[in-house]
Amino acid sequence: PEVLTTLKLLMIGESNVGKSSILLRFTEDEFYENMQSTVGMDYKTKQITLDGDTVKLAIWDTAGQERFRTLTPSYYRDGQGAILVYDVTDRNTFIKLETWLEELNTYCNKIDIVKMVVGNKIDLPNREVSIEEALTFARRHQTLYIESSAKTDDGVKCCFEELVQKIIQT
Ligand code: GTP
Ligand code: MG
Repeated sequence: PEVLTTLKLLMIGESNVGKSSILLRFTEDEFYENMQSTVGMDYKTKQITLDGDTVKLAIWDTAGQERFRTLTPSYYRDGQGAILVYDVTDRNTFIKLETWLEELNTYCNKIDIVKMVVGNKIDLPNREVSIEEALTFARRHQTLYIESSAKTDDGVKCCFEELVQKIIQT
């Protein structure tokens, strides 16, 4: 089918929350228990069809680890959607979302970039952040919210589809 548009999406969040795993599950339908930390940045594309329209996604994934980070304002430039990932079993990664949002708002020249907060690793039993708390955060910052597991594939496709839907509507 004819590709209507290409959208640039950004994955951000602390190290080890599962950004690369979500991306790999979405683009290749694979999952690795011993995924290597991202060094610098990575990029994958995928086409999706929504309501009969084909959209090409260019998805950028960056290192959460400070020492591997080569984040520059150019990473954020022209981003139309941002996926802010935290780990539902690690409260610190949820708290750090504030910092990631600030960074996003500082560098994004497009103020109306659509944001999706993703609570990942819901397959694990030791949850530290409740859905209610996360929804309150999402409302306060006017972001979308979804929970996922890159391991079981829960919510992964939905995350990208809902974000793209919102970008297209905006
Ligand atoms: P950086 O590249 O360092 O920023 O980390 P990242 O956010 O890309 O995390 P990554 O995808 O490398 O995943 C970190 C670890 O968590 C890996 O061992 C994954 O196998 C594991 N992991 C990722 N997603 C899930 C999930 O949904 N459930 C479970 N149980 N483990 C996950
Ligand atoms: Mg990574």
